[in-house]
Amino acid sequence: MSYPDGFLWGVSTAAYQIEGAVDEDGRGRSVWDTFCEQPGVIADGSSGAVACDHYHRYAEDVALMRELGVGGYRFSIAWPRVLPTGSGAVNAAGLDFYDRLVDELCAAGIAPVPTLFHWDTPQAVEDEGGWLARDTAHRFAEYAAVVADRLGDRVPHWITINEPREVTMLGYGLGVHAPGRTGLFEALPVAHHLLLGHGLAVQSLRATGARSIGVAASHNPTWSAGESTADREAAELFDHLNNWLFADALVRGDYGEGWNELLPVQDGDMSIISQPLDWYGVNYYNPTRVGAPGSGSSEVDGVSTPDGLPFSFTPITDVPQTDFGWPVVPEGLTQILMTMRHRYGEAMPPVMITENGCSYDDPIAADGRIADERRIDYLDSHLTALREAICQGVDVRGYFTWSLLDNFEWAEGFRQRFGLVHVDYDTLARTRRDSFHWFAEHIRAHQ
Ligand code: NOJ
Repeated sequence: MSYPDGFLWGVSTAAYQIEGAVDEDGRGRSVWDTFCEQPGVIADGSSGAVACDHYHRYAEDVALMRELGVGGYRFSIAWPRVLPTGSGAVNAAGLDFYDRLVDELCAAGIAPVPTLFHWDTPQAVEDEGGWLARDTAHRFAEYAAVVADRLGDRVPHWITINEPREVTMLGYGLGVHAPGRTGLFEALPVAHHLLLGHGLAVQSLRATGARSIGVAASHNPTWSAGESTADREAAELFDHLNNWLFADALVRGDYGEGWNELLPVQDGDMSIISQPLDWYGVNYYNPTRVGAPGSGSSEVDGVSTPDGLPFSFTPITDVPQTDFGWPVVPEGLTQILMTMRHRYGEAMPPVMITENGCSYDDPIAADGRIADERRIDYLDSHLTALREAICQGVDVRGYFTWSLLDNFEWAEGFRQRFGLVHVDYDTLARTRRDSFHWFAEHIRAHQ
C-alpha cells in the first residue's frame, strides 16, 4: 500500500493565523481584526495582530519547510493586504509580500499553493453586507484576477476558498467566528455567495492561464447516534447540511432536493459553481455523531449550538481525544473519501487532502526536545487510512498537514497547538517537534 507517483506532500497555514503585521504596508482591516476586539469572543483574549510574525520571518519558515522536504506549501493570501477595501486600488506593497514569499518558495524547490480566501474578508466588504451580499462574489473574482496576474507565472496550483461551511455556519449562522452574525438558517445565502465567488474566481484564474485549480472544503462522516428512524432522519438532515449542500453544488451543480429553493440561486449560477475542478481539497478532522433533537447535546467539537435545532450531538468518547477534545478517528478519513467516491462516481475530481492534523500541547524538555508521540500516532494512523482509500480506488494526489506552525486558532486563540513546529509566543522562536522529524522521514521514504 503506497502513494501514487507524483504525490504532493505539503503543509498548510493561513494568513490571519500566522502573518501578524496587521497594520503594515497598507494592509486594510479584515473582519477578524474587528471580531477579535470584541470582549469574550476569543478564548484567551488574543488576536492575530502578531501571531507567528510570519510576515517578517517567512524566510525562516520556508527554510523549515525545505528541511522537512515538502513539495508544496499551502498558505493563504490576505484579501485586505492586496485590496485594502476589497476592490479598487491595489496595494502594491501587500502584493509584494506574496511575491517575495512565492520567490522564496520557488528558490527552495517548493510549489506555492495559495488559497485566495481563508476567512479574512475585508472589513469594508463586510460593511456592505459581506457574504450575505451577492456583490461580494464579484468583488472576490476581481481580487482573484489581480493576484493571478501577479503570481500566476510561478503558482502551479490554486485554491479558491477555504471551508465555505465554516464561514456560513460559524461566522454568519452561530456567530462564534467573524463577522459574528447569528442568523442561523438566514445565513444560507452566505453559502451560495461563497460558492458563486468560488466559481467566478475559477473563471478569473482560468482567464490568466491557471491549469490546476481546487477548492478546500471540510468534510466529516456523519454517524447516526442510534438506529431509530428519528435518529437516522436527524443524522441525514445534518449530513446534508454539513457535507453535501456544499459538495453537491460544487460537483453536481445542485444543492439537493428541497434545498435549491432555500438559496438565492439565479439563472446560470449553478453551472458557474460546478464548472469542472482539477481537484477537490478535503479537510478532514473527525466524524460527527448526530441524533434526534433532544437525544444528545447541543455542543459539537467545542461549539455550542442553540436549542431548537432539528438534530443534536452525541460526543464520540470511546476513542482517544486530542487536546482540543476532538475524537481521533483515522478510519473516518477512509470513510468520507469512499462515501464521496460512491456518491459522485466518475464525476468525482481527483482529491487532495488540504488539511489534516491535531492539537497537542506536549511540553518542551530541558534539552529542547518536544516528544509529541500522540501527534506522530495521529499522522501515522491517518496516513494509513488515506492509503486504504487510495487502495480502494480513490484518486488522491496529495496530503497537506495542518499545520507547519502553531498558530492563531480562531475563537480558541493560541490555546490550541496544531504545529509540527512549536512557536513560543513571547520570543517567536520556532522549535521542531518530534513529529516534524517523523513527517520529514515519512516524506523521504515515500518520494
Ligand atoms: C480548519 C481551518 O481551515 C483552519 O483554519 C483551522 O485552523 C483548522 N481547521 C483547525 O481547526
